[in-house]
Amino acid sequence: MVSSLKALWIALVCAIGTINALPQEKRTTPRHAQVLILGGGITGVIAARTFKQAGINNILVIEGREELGGRMRSTEFGGLTVELGANWIQGTQTGNGPINPILTLARKHHLKTQFNNFDDLTTYDDTGLVDFIDAANQADTDFNNFNIVAGPRVANAQVDMTASAGYRLSGAKILDKQAAAAQYLNFDFEYAQTPQESSWLAASWNNNFTFVAEQGGFSEANLMCIDQRGYKTIVQGEAEDFLTSDEILLNAVVQNITYSSTGVSVTLTNGTVITGDYALCTFSVGVLQHDDVTFIPPLPAFKQEAISSIAMATYTKIFLQFPTKFWFDTEMGLYADPERGRYPIWQSLDHPKFLPGSRILFVTVTSDFSQRVEAFTDEQVQAEVMDVVHNMFPNIEVPEPNAFLFPRWHSDPLYRGSYSNWPPSFFSGHHENLKLNVDRLYFAGEATSVKFFGFLHGAYFEGLNMANIIISCIEGNSTCNTALTNGGEVTNSVPFDLNN
Ligand SMILES: Cc1cc2nc3c(=O)[nH]c(=O)nc-3n(C[C@H](O)[C@H](O)[C@H](O)COP(=O)(O)OP(=O)(O)OC[C@H]3O[C@@H](n4cnc5c(N)ncnc54)[C@H](O)[C@@H]3O)c2cc1C
Ligand SMILES: *[C@@H]1O[C@H](CO)[C@@H](O)[C@H](O)[C@H]1NC(C)=O
Ligand SMILES: *[C@@H]1O[C@H](CO)[C@@H](O)[C@H](O)[C@H]1NC(C)=O
Ligand SMILES: *[C@@H]1O[C@H](CO)[C@@H](O)[C@H](O)[C@H]1NC(C)=O
Ligand SMILES: *[C@@H]1O[C@H](CO)[C@@H](O)[C@H](O)[C@H]1NC(C)=O
Repeated sequence: MVSSLKALWIALVCAIGTINALPQEKRTTPRHAQVLILGGGITGVIAARTFKQAGINNILVIEGREELGGRMRSTEFGGLTVELGANWIQGTQTGNGPINPILTLARKHHLKTQFNNFDDLTTYDDTGLVDFIDAANQADTDFNNFNIVAGPRVANAQVDMTASAGYRLSGAKILDKQAAAAQYLNFDFEYAQTPQESSWLAASWNNNFTFVAEQGGFSEANLMCIDQRGYKTIVQGEAEDFLTSDEILLNAVVQNITYSSTGVSVTLTNGTVITGDYALCTFSVGVLQHDDVTFIPPLPAFKQEAISSIAMATYTKIFLQFPTKFWFDTEMGLYADPERGRYPIWQSLDHPKFLPGSRILFVTVTSDFSQRVEAFTDEQVQAEVMDVVHNMFPNIEVPEPNAFLFPRWHSDPLYRGSYSNWPPSFFSGHHENLKLNVDRLYFAGEATSVKFFGFLHGAYFEGLNMANIIISCIEGNSTCNTALTNGGEVTNSVPFDLNN
């Protein structure tokens, strides 16, 4: 049976070869691979590596951009390499405990990193330099309590609420702009959305599983990548070690994905059709939400609900390079504007630990404020940012920046945001459905990680695990899909009672 199939395959290949040899004839048989991996970010590359290691050699990674890496994306700025996307290894290892797989990759590829101390802080408000380190310390305590009070609720399966409700219930009082900025540094700077927009319980376990060793997390440390090859070098390096150039198709934007119980066919924007026995879609949940790709047949209702239920947040780093360094000597600056979320977090790359002499400063905004700045021109955003710089340094004659840059993650049709965040109305059933396959089409990415959503290590584990499920199916395990559960229709545990 196997050998007769093989003979048929050889005959087919020969036939195609003959057709191609005829100059007048158009090639009608689409390119085929056993597994198509849609997207060349860390999820896709780690999945591809997993297939190759299992001896599945007929794979094809299809990537829309001109290089691999996805949201690990660097660029040249003011003569140096800066990271527009992921920048930190978040959580490393404690003793012999679990190690962050991104740290393992970083070591293998000799990535240059430095410990980034987010507590090494200088504080400002709209009147200039003002010491509110007390408020920053209080925000650390508040976040700690927020996590502690969440613990028994998760264990007892009590309902989730907004992270704001969690803060209130655990005693936090946010009464002024300093307290608001300090809370932003603890919360929004990580989840890229406000406490009001976020799930209390999911935020808490996401934090614990990454940063709290006694909860199974890696460690508290954040390592900043300052490697001039860019953070993406660890993904591109893995691809070089495990994949051939025939197994990667760059500059190939997927337009349609047609799926069935026997295979998957994708159409690129230039009309090229490629088929696979299986496909793994690793596009961001933002891409899926914006209908940038058409599914044929349309995804089932439960799947569409799951995709719509999770949030794609936006995290925007705005880079400035000045003719001279005039700012703080700490690693971080915190700015308290009367409007919460207005240019709050400042980071100095011109620091002995990072890129000394670079004269580069960057400021981070998130969520609605990110979408707001994306709608303005670069010149308008630069003018606003410079107004804030003048607020922070009223007694310094601040020079005009000689370089200015920020990425528009939300507007980009290949991303539609920076990473996912779990809203208070998103339930485990939605999560299961987000991860569930439809026929031969599978899904993986940072957003399908329940413990580590948003993070690189979440994406890594999802690529690995989903590839192993598909491998099991290919190897003929008839129950391979039982690792994926159908969350069914997601309902309240008790109906709303309108009579009370
Ligand atoms: C600004 C920012 C800061 C971050 N900071 C950190 C950090 O410090 N630490 C951390 O751990 N994580 C961080 N993250 C999150 C981390 O980058 C992501 O979790 C991770 O890179 C996601 O990998 P992925 O493979 O799941 O998705 P992606 O990297 O998005 O890969 C999917 C790929 O699919 C491609 N694609 C999309 N649509 C199509 C299409 N139609 N056709 C063909 N190809 C398509 C995309 O180009 C992309 O390459 C950050 C992200 C951003 C944006
Ligand atoms: C988070 O970790 C803290 C500290 O170990 C613990 O008290 C709390 O219960 C954990 N919270 C959750 C939601 O797991
Ligand atoms: C379509 O794009 C793919 C990927 O870039 C390329 O390999 C292919 O040759 C293109 N086809 C046509 C007809 O341009
Ligand atoms: C699929 O995508 C192509 C663009 O490449 C488009 O022309 C076509 O109409 C789409 N729909 C179907 C059903 O193939
Ligand atoms: C088949 O897959 C299921 C689900 O992943 C797994 O539990 C089981 O061990 C697998 N069986 C074999 C024989 O590998």
